[in-house]
Amino acid sequence: MRTLRADESGLAEAVSLLRAGDLVAIPTETVYGLAGDGRSADAVARIFAAKQRPTFDPLILHLPASWKTDFESRSVVDLQGLHPTDANLARALAAKFWPGPLTLVLPRHPSVPDLVTSGLDSVAVRVPAHPTAQELLERFGGPLAAPSANRFGRISPTHAAHVIQELSGRAAAVIDGGPCAIGLESTVIRPTGRAGEWQLLRPGALPREAIEALLGAPLIEPPPSGRSSPGLAQPSPGLIETHYAPSKPLELLVGAGAHDWACALADHEGAALLFFSDASRDRALAGAEITRPCRVLSPTGSDVEAARNLFSALRELDASPAPSLLAELPLGTQGLIPAIRDRLERAGCRYPTSTGGTP
Ligand code: TXA
Ligand code: MG
Repeated sequence: MRTLRADESGLAEAVSLLRAGDLVAIPTETVYGLAGDGRSADAVARIFAAKQRPTFDPLILHLPASWKTDFESRSVVDLQGLHPTDANLARALAAKFWPGPLTLVLPRHPSVPDLVTSGLDSVAVRVPAHPTAQELLERFGGPLAAPSANRFGRISPTHAAHVIQELSGRAAAVIDGGPCAIGLESTVIRPTGRAGEWQLLRPGALPREAIEALLGAPLIEPPPSGRSSPGLAQPSPGLIETHYAPSKPLELLVGAGAHDWACALADHEGAALLFFSDASRDRALAGAEITRPCRVLSPTGSDVEAARNLFSALRELDASPAPSLLAELPLGTQGLIPAIRDRLERAGCRYPTSTGGTP
């Protein structure tokens, strides 16, 4: 896999690879994506093969920023298939939040390859905000299908080096656009079919409060996780329970005090530790001397900083000599906390604590 610079010659090379049906990993503001021509069934098939991703899990089409106001006339979505209220809301959501980390699941245009949508009658679309992704999309002049550039089920990449670890030999190139500014995937929503009612399919980098303020109504909760019917297209990304996972066992402590942590540390000798903030680490360890690998997502407890560091911290601890991982599951319902919780919960399982702990 070649590493291309995010400059004139790197972008020109990336466009010619994509036009030839090859795959190029690209930086976005959320995570790196593995991009292929979204109008080519062959290129899209290559994405599934490179990621070892089951074909029942549909992809997001990334659109050029210049399509933001007329995306409905680009043979990607078909807003005629929506109630007029929802078509107007889709336009308003795009106008307000694109470019940015919001993915809209909308009725598909018939020309979108079946493989992109896993045969569903809807297609996921977003306009990424990263300047390199935008420049590439303008030059390419069409939609790029791009799932996160990791092998299926594994930790999403937020640096070009992570992409090389995940997909070396499985894609033609990666454009190095530096670390991703947000570090968590986009928020995915869809209209439910009842006028004005939208559902959260995946909590993500755009906090739900911002979407609900525009809709003027709460989002419907995501469907419960767990795969419903093997082999069938998933109605939602939330339905695949194990995801974003390190290769070592990961256990999560929620709302845990020093006593629970002491038990967990004794149960998991040598386990690497992940804390949300300096304050929560100090509370959990209660002055105990720790020699194991340990990371804090945000010293001051900022959800934005924690999101940016989450996947690289998990990756680093997974690569450490520790046999397993213990992580704090932060409490809270605002900002990026729900998305951080979602990723950790899909990556691991709960360590039984005395308090249990709800958000
Ligand atoms: O931030 C992001 O969204 C990143 C960057 C690269 O843009 N992309 C990303 O792609 O996270 P991926 O493939 O890892 O996640 C896309 C999610 C999948 O879980 C998929 O199930 C869901 O979007 N999705 C795609 N099409 C859908 C559809 N028609 N209906 C419901 N969910 C859909
Ligand atoms: Mg992914």
